[in-house]
Amino acid sequence: MTSVPSLPRPQASFSFEPPVLQLPERNREAWTLDASALSYPDYHDLNAWNAFRDASVHLALRHLPEHFAEALDEFFSPVGIPALMFENLPVDPELPPNPSDGLRPRNKQAVSEAVICGIVGMHGEILSYLNEKFGAPIQEVAPIRGMERIQSNAGRVQFGFHSDNAFLPRRFRQKGILLYGLRNQDAATLVLTAGQIMEAAPPDLAASLAKPIFRHACPASFSLPGTPALSAPCSILWRDELGLARVSAASSSIEPLTPGAAEALDRFRTLLMSLEPARVVVQPGTALLFKDDRVLHGRDSFAGSRWLQRAYFTDSLDPLRKATRSDPQAFAFDAGALLCA
Ligand SMILES: [Fe+2]
Repeated sequence: MTSVPSLPRPQASFSFEPPVLQLPERNREAWTLDASALSYPDYHDLNAWNAFRDASVHLALRHLPEHFAEALDEFFSPVGIPALMFENLPVDPELPPNPSDGLRPRNKQAVSEAVICGIVGMHGEILSYLNEKFGAPIQEVAPIRGMERIQSNAGRVQFGFHSDNAFLPRRFRQKGILLYGLRNQDAATLVLTAGQIMEAAPPDLAASLAKPIFRHACPASFSLPGTPALSAPCSILWRDELGLARVSAASSSIEPLTPGAAEALDRFRTLLMSLEPARVVVQPGTALLFKDDRVLHGRDSFAGSRWLQRAYFTDSLDPLRKATRSDPQAFAFDAGALLCA
């Protein structure tokens, strides 16, 4: 174990809380009523999926107040805020028991999915990977029987700070994640911004983390048999061409390529433990949106009931469709093919 130099304690000014917007009650009621009339399609039928998405966007445009749309404009702009929360959004009036197999209950209404598709579809595209949860565009995040002790979306144990799918080339990775609360007693999602980490990192550590001397491994939730699922050498913490701090760190493991990288990785992990993240319990009807390489996210351990839904999103699916020679309407892609593209 490399010795860790003393690190500065974070200042209060480093903390970040996502802005929160509360949907008025009358909007929630009217949106719930309209969304209850939609049926969730078989997402393998791309025409049916697109029709559902279009109807969902139509409802979101009708029911989201102007200032919500402005907040979404701000969030989706290239220099926009790294995270955003909406509260009091519609939830299915008759919600089935939490799924313990990771799959969407067949008898679930489509209210939450309509809201997720509507919010994302106003600016971007939902994206999934065929190797995870069968390529479902909206995924169930609830403890899976027998997997409670695994550090993944199926577990109950603490899940350290990470980015999703850091092993994939950046151009093929989701730009952001939406988490939507259906039931959640006590499980906090942790959000730590790249800006907070950059501010607190000593200059020599920041310089090491910006070098392409790390490789990210494939997460536990993916099935990629026979593929050496490691990223190309890449940075962990860097500033982009706009000067914005960005961060990328796999949940499973990160392979340092040099002794200096190993030392920097140790110091990076120690630094993360010293910082104060935003702690958000994504309650029923709450949508938490964040940009995947502007924050790291994690989860506290939890004991109570928890059922969230998750959607990955990006600006355009064209590069993924082209790289995988997929259907021009496809939204689910083979991560193995993307690794080789
Ligand atoms: Fe994650």
